[in-house]
Amino acid sequence: MEIRSISVKNFRNIKDAEVTGLKRVNLITGGNAQGKTNFLESIFYLSTLSSSRMKTLNDLITLNESYFSLRCKVEKNGLSKTLEAFYGLGKDTSVRVNENPVSKKNEYIGELQIVKFSPEDIDLIKRSPVERRRNLNILISQMSRSYLSDLSRYHQVLAQKNKLLFQINEGRADRKLLLVWNAQLVETGTRIVKARLEAIDNLKDRLKDLQAKISGGKEDISISYKCSFETAGDAAANFEAKINAMQEKEIIRKASLVGPHRDDVIFILNGQDAKYFSSEGQQRSIIINLKLSEYMLMKEKTGEEPVVLIDDIFFDLDENRRTAILSVFNGMAQVFLAGTEDKNFQKYFTDYALFKIEDGKVTADGEKK
Ligand SMILES: Nc1ncnc2c1ncn2[C@@H]1O[C@H](COP(=O)(O)OP(=O)(O)OP(=O)(O)O)[C@@H](O)[C@H]1O
Ligand SMILES: [Mg+2]
Repeated sequence: MEIRSISVKNFRNIKDAEVTGLKRVNLITGGNAQGKTNFLESIFYLSTLSSSRMKTLNDLITLNESYFSLRCKVEKNGLSKTLEAFYGLGKDTSVRVNENPVSKKNEYIGELQIVKFSPEDIDLIKRSPVERRRNLNILISQMSRSYLSDLSRYHQVLAQKNKLLFQINEGRADRKLLLVWNAQLVETGTRIVKARLEAIDNLKDRLKDLQAKISGGKEDISISYKCSFETAGDAAANFEAKINAMQEKEIIRKASLVGPHRDDVIFILNGQDAKYFSSEGQQRSIIINLKLSEYMLMKEKTGEEPVVLIDDIFFDLDENRRTAILSVFNGMAQVFLAGTEDKNFQKYFTDYALFKIEDGKVTADGEKK
């Protein structure tokens, strides 16, 4: 899959950019705070309709403006498609594919497949479980439309149930009412957990192989899904039984304590939990390899190579590791790589398009401002 052109309006500090002349490798260079990450974020938003660096969508609109709009042309399976996303203050995001509105988010996500390598992703092992679940959700929803609809249904029901727990706690509602919500949580939640287990299972060996390779066979990495209920056997029945067993606690705490919203992904390096035992460099290389595994998985499942976004993650890699990693990216369908100019990325790539970004203005190298 390849993006042919991107147009960005009122997104972060990018007021108006029309970017054409994209190639397989695209270098986005510029000083600090000029808009490099913002530009990659606009591509990520076109893919996932979300961002990991915002409180609300309003944060993505250029200050003092009332909307943003994004558009890109992608080439996929030999077909060209135009994807558009629009968000206005106080409105929902609206999206169009080839100028036709698509009303459901889950029918849009997957149109532009992305794997992102950014500083937040690279710190994934250190971050909170929410981020690891989010990473998994983004991966799976790009491969499965039903996953995203299950996920949004699950969160709607969860919000209703939590409201009810609050009322029961205050003696304003009957605990029997929990049954209805629990049944729905079990139904959608079990499907969510199954999809996550399958994804982890598919990533596991790829990650193990990549990590063994870069460490000369010294590092054995094992990734697993830590579920808040027993998944072996009849997972739905186990989930239900655990919710019932936790009922009193849930009422006291006014919170739902079992289900995929409480789960986590665990990384074990040479028998030890990587979160507490592995060095910074080891944690980073595990995540780089995890992301490469995600790339391979997505390619296998969808028959398309995802577009890769790389945001300045090479700041403390030595020359050898940098060359090794960049040579992997060199062979991918399309890569966007952002960094400050002193990184001298040019020497790693033979054919690439170079873009400069300054105060939110994107120019192709050699083009007049
Ligand atoms: N909604 C917004 N409206 C206007 N400007 C914004 C908005 N959100 C962020 N910015 C500004 O965009 C600028 C560029 O941010 P960005 O993260 O893209 O920089 P960068 O080029 O990646 O820099 P670095 O090399 O430090 O990572 C920041 O100075 C930030 O204040
Ligand atoms: Mg940045």
